[in-house]
Amino acid sequence: MATMGFIAASLSLNCLDCHTQDSGRDPAKYAEDTPIKQTARKMLLMVKQINAQNFGGVRTVTCYTCHRSDVAPRFTPSLAEQYGTPPERDPNDIEIAQQPDPAAPSADQILDKYIQAVGGAQRLASLTSFTATGTYSGYDTDFAKLPAEVYAKAPGLRATVIHPPIGQGTTVYDGRNGWVAAANSLLPLVTLTGGELDAVTFEAELAFPAKIKQYLTGWRAGFPPTTLDDHSVLVVQGTAPAGSRVKLFFDKDSGLLVRTVMFTTTVIGLNPREIDYSDYRDVAGVKIPFKWTAVWTDGRSEFEMTDVRPNVAIDAARFGKPAPPKSGNP
Ligand code: HEC
Ligand code: HEC
Repeated sequence: MATMGFIAASLSLNCLDCHTQDSGRDPAKYAEDTPIKQTARKMLLMVKQINAQNFGGVRTVTCYTCHRSDVAPRFTPSLAEQYGTPPERDPNDIEIAQQPDPAAPSADQILDKYIQAVGGAQRLASLTSFTATGTYSGYDTDFAKLPAEVYAKAPGLRATVIHPPIGQGTTVYDGRNGWVAAANSLLPLVTLTGGELDAVTFEAELAFPAKIKQYLTGWRAGFPPTTLDDHSVLVVQGTAPAGSRVKLFFDKDSGLLVRTVMFTTTVIGLNPREIDYSDYRDVAGVKIPFKWTAVWTDGRSEFEMTDVRPNVAIDAARFGKPAPPKSGNP
């Protein structure tokens, strides 16, 4: 599915642009061939060959290299682009130059400031669990708000529950395993592996960020200056246990985490997954984001919490493998 997401994002296509219309109702139909699917298959082989013959087999050229979120790659240089005002650089795209800026703050300094900003190590240590209630909205709900809950327990257990009628779903990380159960989905219950497991583990770690320095490894800093919503941000990069690279964006003034972008691997390229955090509020002396918006190659969702209760007992079953949800909704 992540590979399908990569292809869809690289060409700005929906699943059913390539697959037959009835695939939405009957997952078996995804296997049926269509002319555009056959073209895509040829392109997959072409890209494999380009990389084998020119880049020592390293995944260098991808669908996105030519397609740039369009079905029809362009052939002729654009004079309007050459002489026009260059578009603003996507902050997610910035990378460390050959020589990281020696005057820039180190990853340690940026992370220490973040731990201070959310309340300091001592206060963080005294928050061992919380439950949050609020709403979820996303593409799957047509952005209608549904009741949602988050359960979190240190060290790193986390479950989110979205209630029916439309987009019922549960995501669980029990400290070792991760699952997503979603109603009306191609795959009703998925056991997460690789980059998808990295993504939920990382979110669970961020609920109690005191150990974030140990959790991610291979820290790097010294990215070129960049802004998010007109605020200067400092960027650091680390690597999650299954190997996914992740960038963390901290507000330069407040020190708070405002964005994460994780790059998870597929057979044909990296998929970015961005989460923006906002509306930090004080809960038992610790600053917790009450709102977060996730964007990835095949979805977009928003959680807004209204009530967060610190240090409450949570039934262990909340962090168990969820049951596949009942379908049958519209
Ligand atoms: C650019 C065209 C394209 C888009 C867009 C696309 N797919 Fe595919 N899909 C393919 C191709 C090509 C294959 C077949 C790979 C092969 O077997 O050679 C495939 C295979 C599949 C399969 C496996 C079918 C089977 O059983 O053989 C599923 C399921 C699937 N796609 C789902 C999706 C979903 C869900 C999306 C949207 C996120 C999507 N696809 C977007 C081209 C596409
Ligand atoms: C080296 C450049 C290049 C790369 C890399 C590339 N494509 Fe293409 N692709 C093209 C060009 C050029 C066309 C248009 C051909 C034409 O106009 O007849 C095209 C057309 C297509 C089409 C047909 C669109 C339509 O409307 O019929 C699909 C689907 C497609 N590519 C999928 C992919 C996928 C999937 C990948 C990655 C596995 C990929 N392409 C990688 C250059 C590329």
